Amino acid sequence: MSERETIHLAADLSFLHTDFLWRMSGSWVDYPYYSTSEFYENIAKIAECGRFDLLFFGDTGGTSEDYGGNHDAVVRNGVKWPRHDMTAMIPILARVTEGVGYALTMSTTYHHPFHCARTFNALDHVTRGRIAWNAVTSAYKGEAANWGFDVMMEHGERYRRAQEFLKVACALWDSVEPDALVMDRESGVFADPEKVHRIDFKGDYFNVRGPLPALPSPQQRPLIIQAGQSGPGMDLAATYADLQFSTRRTVESMKQHRKALDEKLLSFGRQPRDLGILWSVRVQVAESKSEARAKEQAFLDSIPPEGGLIEMSQWFGVDFSTAELDMTLADFADQVKAVNGNLGTFEEIVKTTEPNMTVRELGRDYMTKRIMTAEGTPKEIVDKLEMMHYETGANGGFILGRGFHATDNIKEFVEHVVPELQRRGLSKKEYSGSTMRENFND
Ligand SMILES: Cc1cc2nc3c(=O)[nH]c(=O)nc-3n(C[C@H](O)[C@H](O)[C@H](O)COP(=O)(O)O)c2cc1C
Repeated sequence: MSERETIHLAADLSFLHTDFLWRMSGSWVDYPYYSTSEFYENIAKIAECGRFDLLFFGDTGGTSEDYGGNHDAVVRNGVKWPRHDMTAMIPILARVTEGVGYALTMSTTYHHPFHCARTFNALDHVTRGRIAWNAVTSAYKGEAANWGFDVMMEHGERYRRAQEFLKVACALWDSVEPDALVMDRESGVFADPEKVHRIDFKGDYFNVRGPLPALPSPQQRPLIIQAGQSGPGMDLAATYADLQFSTRRTVESMKQHRKALDEKLLSFGRQPRDLGILWSVRVQVAESKSEARAKEQAFLDSIPPEGGLIEMSQWFGVDFSTAELDMTLADFADQVKAVNGNLGTFEEIVKTTEPNMTVRELGRDYMTKRIMTAEGTPKEIVDKLEMMHYETGANGGFILGRGFHATDNIKEFVEHVVPELQRRGLSKKEYSGSTMRENFND
């Protein structure tokens, strides 16, 4: 999925309007984020100027009550709340852009593969081949409650279901051959029945006859993205994904992750170049290092002390409001494991956190330091991105996340960092293909 060494650029648009980012200067307070598409259209056009390949919309359908036992904290502070279904926005954005692609999230735990295959086939048609599916197994308790589950499905079972889900969805996308449509007025043949196939799938979770009652879309399958970081998550990515989102906190950990994934890919009969990684990175650009630091500090100062703890509660399904002053992460490890939420991410934090750090200190850092950061002048930022890219096999790129308030942050990146990336020949100046798959391979 990343045949060349280009740095591919993506942006996580999931929380531009929440997570304290709305308090930053240059963010659009009072803007009707969802009742008009202009806000997102503007961002998509800016990203396209920077030759981004992907804009990502994450999704979970829950309102977390993990911090303090009710939803007060997430609603009052706007922590990943609200979260609208962004499916409807995609065709609108596709109309105002030509090169940038879009990734939409759909859960393998709560949806059905037939519905998923049909929806993404339609989205691939209307975007003219610029849609990706972020296939998630959904690790949040609040979401489970909305889909009718008293208890969240166990981690291993979520991934067994996901394996079957992806198998069915892929079979459906392949069930109609690209040249099935004939439309010959003379003979009266609309489509060739021999090129349309049942899939006759019977499994532990799904029974699907097929075929997909739809013509193949420009990419045939959407690009498949997987972001699970645990063992079963990595297996799923290595079997099906074109791209992986990965959140690591040190370069060493990034390297280990890439190596582990490459070994898995080979063991599943695929090649490392078949799967690019988009590493999460938080960027703060300014004319000088001290100015960038000051901007970062302004953001940190706008976060209340419990901000990171509320977010951690949401991520790991454990009530961190109960953290006493001197408790460390290790004191919560058993509880987090029992919830079986975002296990891969939790393991990374345990691995890369100083053991004596208290949960409260960690909570403070969590909002900003959960991912790699690059801060300073455009040159300093590109130096760091270049180093991380080549240290990890130059196989994918970066997804900008967490520091990304709209619209100033995005504009600054495109105006100041992208020209330096392009000047060094690291990122592209033009889109070469018409589909997202082609652009990621360039
Ligand atoms: C960058 C990134 C983006 C993610 N986006 C979503 C999302 O939108 N919705 C979701 O339910 N999970 C999301 N996840 C969570 C993963 O898809 C996965 O379900 C989670 O990490 C638990 O799997 P694991 O235990 O294998 O790590 C994301 C993870 C990462 C690293």
